[in-house]
Amino acid sequence: MTKHFKRYTVTSALPYANGAIHIGHLAGVYVPADIYVRYLRSIGEDVIFIGGSDEHGVPITIKARQEGVTPQDVVDRFHYIIKKSFEDFGISFDIYSRTSNAIHHETASDFFLKLYNDGKFIEQTTEQYYDEEAKQFLADRYIIGTCPLCNNEKAYGDQCESCGSSLNATDLINPKSTLSGNTPVLKVTKHWYLPLDQYENWLKEWILEGHKEWKSNVYGQCKSWIDQGLQPRAVTRDLDWGVKVPVEEAEGKVLYVWFDAPIGYISATKEWAKQKGKDWEPYWKEQDTKMVHFIGKDNIVFHCIIFPAMLKAEGSYILPDNVPANEFLNLENDKISTSRNWAVWLHEYLEDFPGKQDVLRYALCANAPEAKDNNFTWKDIQDRNNNELLAIFGNFVNRTVVLTHKYFEGRVPEPAEWTKSDREVIEELAFYPEKISKSIENYRFREALNEMMNVARLGNKYLTDQEPWKTIKTDEKRTKTILNLSLQICVNLSILCEPFLPFSAKKLCEILNIEQQTWKKAGNGDLLKPEHPLNPAQFLFEKIEDDAIEYQIKKLQDTKKANEAIEAVVNPMKPIISFEDFAQCDIRVGTILEAERIPKAKKLLKLQVDTGIDKRTIISGIAEHFEPEQIIGKQVSVLVNLAPKALRGIESEGMILLGEDHDGKLVFVIPETKINNGSEIK
Ligand code: MF3
Ligand code: ZN
Repeated sequence: MTKHFKRYTVTSALPYANGAIHIGHLAGVYVPADIYVRYLRSIGEDVIFIGGSDEHGVPITIKARQEGVTPQDVVDRFHYIIKKSFEDFGISFDIYSRTSNAIHHETASDFFLKLYNDGKFIEQTTEQYYDEEAKQFLADRYIIGTCPLCNNEKAYGDQCESCGSSLNATDLINPKSTLSGNTPVLKVTKHWYLPLDQYENWLKEWILEGHKEWKSNVYGQCKSWIDQGLQPRAVTRDLDWGVKVPVEEAEGKVLYVWFDAPIGYISATKEWAKQKGKDWEPYWKEQDTKMVHFIGKDNIVFHCIIFPAMLKAEGSYILPDNVPANEFLNLENDKISTSRNWAVWLHEYLEDFPGKQDVLRYALCANAPEAKDNNFTWKDIQDRNNNELLAIFGNFVNRTVVLTHKYFEGRVPEPAEWTKSDREVIEELAFYPEKISKSIENYRFREALNEMMNVARLGNKYLTDQEPWKTIKTDEKRTKTILNLSLQICVNLSILCEPFLPFSAKKLCEILNIEQQTWKKAGNGDLLKPEHPLNPAQFLFEKIEDDAIEYQIKKLQDTKKANEAIEAVVNPMKPIISFEDFAQCDIRVGTILEAERIPKAKKLLKLQVDTGIDKRTIISGIAEHFEPEQIIGKQVSVLVNLAPKALRGIESEGMILLGEDHDGKLVFVIPETKINNGSEIK
């Protein structure tokens, strides 16, 4: 590290307390943050790891209203669910706080007041929708109306979920308040704005010049925001849930959730300091403190631009040294979604895979979306577990310990002379701690994890090559040496794996009958003294069978079916399109000339089709519904101007149109009587 820091303040995004935690949260934010912090503790740094629930904002009030309970009821419920999930997965916060705490209200309120008194805000009056019956201003999400772009009648005041456009509430045709069902009226309201435009030059300097080392996804997003020009941002809202704006003329207004939430990191630090009898201020105000925010990509602008501008305006705070945001994790090729229940929830995972927290931590770190969105599958979990954790790490440790019990009564044997190959292993071992450190310090956790596994690979290979089960027959001394060195590698693993696999590290220490050692011990070949007694072997990992994975995939498929059924009721029809849109589709009658299966693709058939224009190859997902022989000579409808796409390495040019029955059975859409190939369907 170039600059030396005396202490670390590590924060992780405060999750909204209106839902549980899923693998996307864990992979994007909490696993990397926890690895980083555990590593810092292991190297002996002074570090605090801050977390907590974000309990304000409009979505929480909406959920409360839907359930007929208070917002406080909602956040109370989810705060404890979330807190428990983090504990269960070993996310080692020094404090997990919440923004409904009094200390937070006070801290956020004081922060606002300081900026207010220092004249850092501008005041602006705008017109906003107001519900005269409910007697309140309406947040964008409380207004629905017709989307001016696609005619969806249920578009929200900030976004149309049907066509995906972002909207202003005043864009909606025929707006209605979801509180009363009435048409809202426009009414003037005053708000306080942080004039981000005034911070533009400073942000350019600080980020674009000063932090070129930030991850390219983060730097790129900052650059694009700054290049587009920054606008003043309202930091207050007309809402009755949140931190009250502490000035008289702001009756009925609260701080915008994105103003108060990051201040939650500060409040949580204060709370921690109080509990520990420490001083919170150095962690936020001393230049020799390194502050790092772990977040997901949707939080970048808030943590790199808005919050730093707030801190800068306040004047007494340090700024983050880095914001290693991750991209998003998809699940089985689909965006993770709370509302569609397309997720793996942590509490559900633990019910189905009790005790296997490290397996998920491992698989998520190995697949973490560090540079771009990444897909995650159940098969990944199985493969990572069976082929890596179990086959390499677990197998190595288990063989070593079992053989030590078998040959040497479970006591660490005294080594004789190191051979050349032993010395090579010891030398290689020596450079891993630094290598892994470097990756972690540069926020490359996937790389770090792989290097850690290389230590297990090294041990596993050493044991396999040296074959102590053979040498025991002829050369006890040699056998002792081999097992001694293997055990030393096991201790190294217990140190180096701890940030990633804390539960397994603990188990490994138990097996080796040692306390958890610190990072600086690692890299050494003499951490266990001869005669040190081991505890009995136990398995670190166990095989995950196919049926366990198939069960999970089935669960997701059922979710998908249920969602489609709901979708069909809510939105019986796709958005309206123009005649011109329709006319762009070139659909022709064609005849299937040939059909064959594609090896290893159980759903696909490769077809040769006479479209009347040409003869071409089309790959169709119908192999589970038709035998190839059965469909040769059939007339079909073909979308002929679909962009070609390679499937399984074969270029598919067009699409066969099919209908689907309730039971999922597919049928061809064909002309009533046979007509010429190439006839247009219009
Ligand atoms: N609740 C926000 C989200 O889940 C994150 C808030 S991070 C904070 O996207 F620091 F601002 F609290
Ligand atoms: Zn729309």
